[in-house]
Amino acid sequence: MNILCIGIIGSGTMGRGIAQVAATAGHEVVVYDNRLEALEDARNFVQRMLNRQVEKGRLTDAEARAIFGRIRWADALAGVSGCQLVIEAIVEHLDVKQAVFRELETLTAPETILATNTSSLSVTSIAAACKHPERVIGIHFFNPAPLMRLVEVAPALQTAETVRDQCVQLVGSWGKLVVVCKDTPGFIVNRVARPFYSEALRICEEGIADMATIDWAMTELGGFRMGPFTLMDFIGNDVNYAVTESTWKAFFHEPRYKPSFTQKRLVEAGWLGRKAGRGYYDYGEGATPPEPTRDEKLGRAILHRIRTMLINEAADALFWGVATAADIDLAMTTGVNYPRGLLAWADELGIQTCVKAMDELYDEYREDRYRCSPLLRRMAREGRKFFPKGES
Ligand code: NAI
Repeated sequence: MNILCIGIIGSGTMGRGIAQVAATAGHEVVVYDNRLEALEDARNFVQRMLNRQVEKGRLTDAEARAIFGRIRWADALAGVSGCQLVIEAIVEHLDVKQAVFRELETLTAPETILATNTSSLSVTSIAAACKHPERVIGIHFFNPAPLMRLVEVAPALQTAETVRDQCVQLVGSWGKLVVVCKDTPGFIVNRVARPFYSEALRICEEGIADMATIDWAMTELGGFRMGPFTLMDFIGNDVNYAVTESTWKAFFHEPRYKPSFTQKRLVEAGWLGRKAGRGYYDYGEGATPPEPTRDEKLGRAILHRIRTMLINEAADALFWGVATAADIDLAMTTGVNYPRGLLAWADELGIQTCVKAMDELYDEYREDRYRCSPLLRRMAREGRKFFPKGES
């Protein structure tokens, strides 16, 4: 099937960005939102984004106008009926998404691919609402969609292989880096990244180090672009807490994903981060950021602990077949800009070293949260590496 026209349902943060991506790639695009103000807002937003591209010399005026001209703004869902691929990016509620998919099936041709941009819901349960679940798939973009190169493609249990292959090929042709992952909570990035936040919170809660020192250790010593507390304040503590809580619940209360009371209280207080003027740090006028202790020995210990937990999580995702080792590393370096792929990092540090660090944490706390992934232990025993021929 030749995919010419792309339908987008929901013109919020994600929908408008995906619309811009698809139109820039040369597709006719139809965007629908059930709120006219949202549609108008998205229209102005895309126009502004394209104008900015022109100012920066990345697009000519004529190109920007052609891209904008390829997007139609529809006030009824039926507007997408002629599309070969529809990407849904509406509220994160299963019943609302299922209702939209049911309606889409009545409006579109039977071979139209129906994709969801969900971050945390089961693609399989969205597909289950459809008469033809084999054409339903997860295509998970990152925010902002035009800038973030990573896209996670998550086929549902029912998805046809041809549908998966076609989506991988298509989104790849838009200049995106596509990773394929199992339909499991958080896919790759939102699952593997959890310890970056939770272990930092734990270290702080235990009084081992303060937030500024943890942030300093992760950026200055670890090479991460932002420290965990700065990043949580940037994302918004409400959003970050909700992702942690939903991951934890979706994994049947897996202790590794257990949310933190510190963060919960911040959310309750309305200290949501930058957008609220206060989060872990104070962003009010005249506020001075706290100074890290810059104790290198302490900093290295913190980095080692958080990084080991991240490596363990990446190894466990591989153990459960969520994605390939190469895709897990690619997802973390491009989806959240980690300085190294975690599995390649494990190879470099030595898998035995990682296992020892996990076992020391487990011995100290006797909590399931610190159990070493069976795959990591097995690989250490067998002297194997994730990338025997070097980093891919
Ligand atoms: P948003 O709240 O910015 O936009 C959602 C839009 O959908 C709103 O304009 C709303 O009017 C519209 N809408 C709601 N119900 C509708 C319906 N029944 N029919 C048509 N339009 C409807 O939300 P956002 O952030 O764009 O998220 C959309 C989806 O993308 C969610 O599933 C979310 O989990 C996912 N996602 C969000 C990311 C983010 O960073 N915001 C990143 C990746 C995925």
